[in-house]
Amino acid sequence: MSLKDQIYLDKLPQHIAIIMDGNGRWAKMHGKQRIFGHQNGVTAVRETTEAAAELGVKFLTVYAFSTENWNRPKFEVDALMRLLVESIEKETPTLNKNNIRLNAIGDIKSLHKKNYNQLIKTIKATADNDRMTLTLALSYSARWEIVETVKSIAERIKNNQLNLADIDHQLFSSHLNTASMPDPELLIRTSGERRISNFLLWQIAYAELYFTQTLWPDFRKEDLYEAIIDYQSRERRFGKTSEQILKHK
Ligand code: IPE
Ligand code: IPE
Ligand code: MG
Repeated sequence: MSLKDQIYLDKLPQHIAIIMDGNGRWAKMHGKQRIFGHQNGVTAVRETTEAAAELGVKFLTVYAFSTENWNRPKFEVDALMRLLVESIEKETPTLNKNNIRLNAIGDIKSLHKKNYNQLIKTIKATADNDRMTLTLALSYSARWEIVETVKSIAERIKNNQLNLADIDHQLFSSHLNTASMPDPELLIRTSGERRISNFLLWQIAYAELYFTQTLWPDFRKEDLYEAIIDYQSRERRFGKTSEQILKHK
């Protein structure tokens, strides 16, 4: 039986988040500059997006550039940004053909004007697509997002649009960048690192974490299938006992 056939389609995660890591090490392994790794990472994004959409996953969120990544050498940041925006432009017809909507989370206003404009253009051009939402986390960090959320809630309280008693975790979630999405059930990180690196801290409260040694540019459909199969073998208890979970099956 192929890996794909081992996936229970009625138990698919609705939302998969990925920390795409290992591009630099992949390039080094091939005796090339880091940017060569980023270039080859685009193929992995394309394959993973296609695989997720084919299965019926509704939301795929990929960490493309963190707030902290601005601290990398300028030439890497510039090359990475150029690559991101060129890829987005190039992939727009495919996104439309596959009925995939592009979305972005993060401090996207901090992108260079030209990059920002291209991003918005593609977001608008794919806005009516409804098979799957592909979200790029760009200039994103969870602490940035949480601080922005606190500010926007505080602002509403100051303007008497909200009472202190109204604040609960649903309200908080509804002010996050990810307000329109369910929390990810599965978080994948490639390249063998086992950390979150400031990604979706609030939203992954109960996500299943999956770490693989595969470097991001090598990640293909089969790697996604393996992660989903692993996810489906887990018992998600949400604080309850195993007996309680089994009784409701
Ligand atoms: C992930 O690969 C891509 C980004 C963070 C933009 P890295 O560039 O972090 O690659 P490594 O971790 O140095 O191998
Ligand atoms: C996390 O990867 C950010 C992205 C994948 C965009 P990093 O490579 O920047 O993370 P650290 O520095 O190893 O934690
Ligand atoms: Mg890295």
